Amino acid sequence: NSIRSLPLPAEAGWSAESIAQQYIVPCLTSYGICVKDSFLGPRLGESVLGEVESLNRSGKFRGGQLVSQRSIPSRNIRGDQIAWVEGHEPGCEGIAMLMAHIDEAVMHSAANGQLGDCVINGRTKAMVACYPGNGTGYIRHVDNPNGDGRCITCIYYLNKNWDVKVQGGLLQIYPEGKSVVANIEPLFDRLLIFWSDRRNPHEVKPAYATRYAITVWYFDAKERAEAREKYRLGFLSWFRNGLLATGIGVIAFV
Ligand code: OGA
Ligand code: OGA
Ligand code: MN
Repeated sequence: NSIRSLPLPAEAGWSAESIAQQYIVPCLTSYGICVKDSFLGPRLGESVLGEVESLNRSGKFRGGQLVSQRSIPSRNIRGDQIAWVEGHEPGCEGIAMLMAHIDEAVMHSAANGQLGDCVINGRTKAMVACYPGNGTGYIRHVDNPNGDGRCITCIYYLNKNWDVKVQGGLLQIYPEGKSVVANIEPLFDRLLIFWSDRRNPHEVKPAYATRYAITVWYFDAKERAEAREKYRLGFLSWFRNGLLATGIGVIAFV
């Protein structure tokens, strides 16, 4: 595969260790938000973009989902189309390499208690998101408001020659308890990292051109274990409340 012949960031002096120590650990500790530009370099970045464009062309994207079922149509909350990528799918070699590099940078950052009591023991698949440019964004929200286990959000942007004054799509983060707004432009080869919990409410302003990003969320071991337990107990309480009789298909959990 042609991706194998690309110069890898590692060969060009890329070091997860130095990105962790110079950017991620100090910025997360002080601000709860970190931006690293030129994360993969232009050549690998471009192959990731090419893969995302092919996923889009081949119709792999679906309307973005919400964790909780609300009566509001989801496109009024988030207007993106998404595809989940594990990493070993054909045609996703560059995305897999991106995921491996983010993994390395995040694991180095969380090593030796450098991110406080945050102990990373896993992550989600990669969520590839496309705002089609019809003026939709994502209203103000918190990624993990209720302790589902996700502690760090990492977003890699893929948009060349992006001008927020023309194309919109600005990400605005409103750090809890601070009277500042972080304005993050979704620029090509930029990696953004922030705490996933209530410390960082954020919104995507309406986008007027195709806007691509890839997101992975990292799990905190303790919070994830507690979330699993809460979920399991949740099913038990459904049974206690008589929902077994409604035939909603959870009998396998008995
Ligand atoms: C909730 C919530 C976030 C989402 O659990 O109530 O806000 O995306 N979830 O729906
Ligand atoms: C999200 C989100 C921000 C962005 O998908 O939860 O907030 O800049 N995305 O794409
Ligand atoms: Mn979000």
